[in-house]
Amino acid sequence: MKTTQEKLAALRGKDKIRILFVCLGNICRSPAADGIMHSIVEERGLAHRFEIDSAGIGAWHVGQLPDQRMRVHARRRGYELTHHARQVRSYDFEDFDLVIGMDSGNISDLRELAPSPEAEEKIVPMIDLVHNLTTTYQCIPDPYYEGAEGFELVLDMLEDGINHLVDCL
Ligand code: 4NP
Repeated sequence: MKTTQEKLAALRGKDKIRILFVCLGNICRSPAADGIMHSIVEERGLAHRFEIDSAGIGAWHVGQLPDQRMRVHARRRGYELTHHARQVRSYDFEDFDLVIGMDSGNISDLRELAPSPEAEEKIVPMIDLVHNLTTTYQCIPDPYYEGAEGFELVLDMLEDGINHLVDCL
């Protein structure tokens, strides 16, 4: 099994890198990661090098815009979240180079969904990418049942991790 750093190194400099962010519902963490990454690569003049999308393990919120609270917190930082939720599917492993999961539940569900050992190698925990922020978290915590601080913490972690991801690629 390759480490996260080895997986990133293998993609470094590739013309088009396809990245899928995955969380449980696809209405809080992963659409925020998707919107933040679109904005960062646009700002850094690298949009042509990336294809970015997000999906959820569950189907409860399919078709919905991100949670209103996440949209409000993201908008305050300049991110307009317009993704419509969809469920992850096994052929996403063909369409994407990296499948980034937000917590250990997402990671184990993705491992079960991966159609081959090569597909499984594409899975990366988002927490591995968090670089500058000092945190004791082992995952990107689900903010759904949390207050404003939960959403702010997720956005801090995602901004940090995605800047680092783009630096590595
Ligand atoms: P997310 O948050 O996985 O970051 O989108 C959640 C959204 C909805 C639910 C759980 C987590 N839910 O149980 O409906």
